[in-house]
Amino acid sequence: MAAPRRIGILTSGGDCPGLNAVIRAVTMDAIGAGIEVVGICDGFLGLIEDRTRALREAEVAAILAFGGTILGSSNKADPARFAVGKNPDGSPILQDVTDKCLATFARHKLDVLVVIGGDGTMTTADRLAARGVPCLGVPKTIDNDLVGTDLTFGFLTAVATATDALDRVHTTAASHHRIIAVEVMGRNAGWIALHSGVATAADVILIPEVPFSLEKIARTIRERAAHGRHYSIVCVAEGAKPAGGEQIVARRDPTSPDPIRLGGIAKFVADRLEDLTGMESRHVVLGHVLRGGPPVAADRVLATQFGWHAMNLLRERRFNRMVTMRGLELSDVGITEPAGKQRTVPAEHHLMAAARAVGAYFGD
Ligand code: F6P
Repeated sequence: MAAPRRIGILTSGGDCPGLNAVIRAVTMDAIGAGIEVVGICDGFLGLIEDRTRALREAEVAAILAFGGTILGSSNKADPARFAVGKNPDGSPILQDVTDKCLATFARHKLDVLVVIGGDGTMTTADRLAARGVPCLGVPKTIDNDLVGTDLTFGFLTAVATATDALDRVHTTAASHHRIIAVEVMGRNAGWIALHSGVATAADVILIPEVPFSLEKIARTIRERAAHGRHYSIVCVAEGAKPAGGEQIVARRDPTSPDPIRLGGIAKFVADRLEDLTGMESRHVVLGHVLRGGPPVAADRVLATQFGWHAMNLLRERRFNRMVTMRGLELSDVGITEPAGKQRTVPAEHHLMAAARAVGAYFGD
């Protein structure tokens, strides 16, 4: 390929702190190299519907510290299964509209598409790559569950926000001698719960990878009370489930590439623990609070490095790759590696062992 002259950039899937920092890094680096940048609005939806905006220095200069994404995002726009209407029974009519994406890419004379997203985004980029669109992936998600990278930007901000909330819940739980269950996001991975639980010395940490027993948790809480600690904090990942039970689904949406919306486990756990222990219980759902607000410094730095490394791949004409952080090294993998997969917490992970060593209970 000749030297790329115009690139497209989009943010797709659930938003997270640091998206704007990547947009800024890619745009500033590209402009410096004489490359024009076209922002695609609302993720793949903008590519399907041909909605774009030019990105110049003025648009991105001051966005480093802002949460969200100036381009908008959508997690309902998988071009391979796009809802174009409804059947008489209310079910969605799904169509493959990849050709519309290819047409937008060609109409704007784009040479490369930079996609910032999670596993679903990489799956879509992989399909576009197979149709001749050179793609570069930047891994994003607060859940930190992308295969191929040890860290995604947004995760450290989510952990910091959850930590602040858990610290606050701690003092009110102690004052009122209550059990408080705090629900954090994470989908099928327990990274946010594990890190924020350890950071706040949560008494119980429940993650999807370790099915729990409510009876055993109740016993642990009663033992704590017998030793004079008349309150307990339970940090529970939205995807955690009791042994032999199911995840709690708040809503199903067949039109979404993520058709199951998790939620409700903290209330379930708090209610059952109140019954089993006789202690007053409350629950808090942190939910989208974890996705909002300014990125912490480490996420701004990570996002900036990711954007810069994506541009390095472009300079080297190494396409259809996703940038990664392995240990403390910036690197990259083929875009197919993370596509459609999730990186969960391994049972033997050192942080699980450390958490157990300092008294956290996983309900197993
Ligand atoms: O993948 C990020 C995430 O925040 C998950 O933790 C959560 O389950 C999901 O997105 C919720 O997404 P939304 O409410 O945007 O559909």
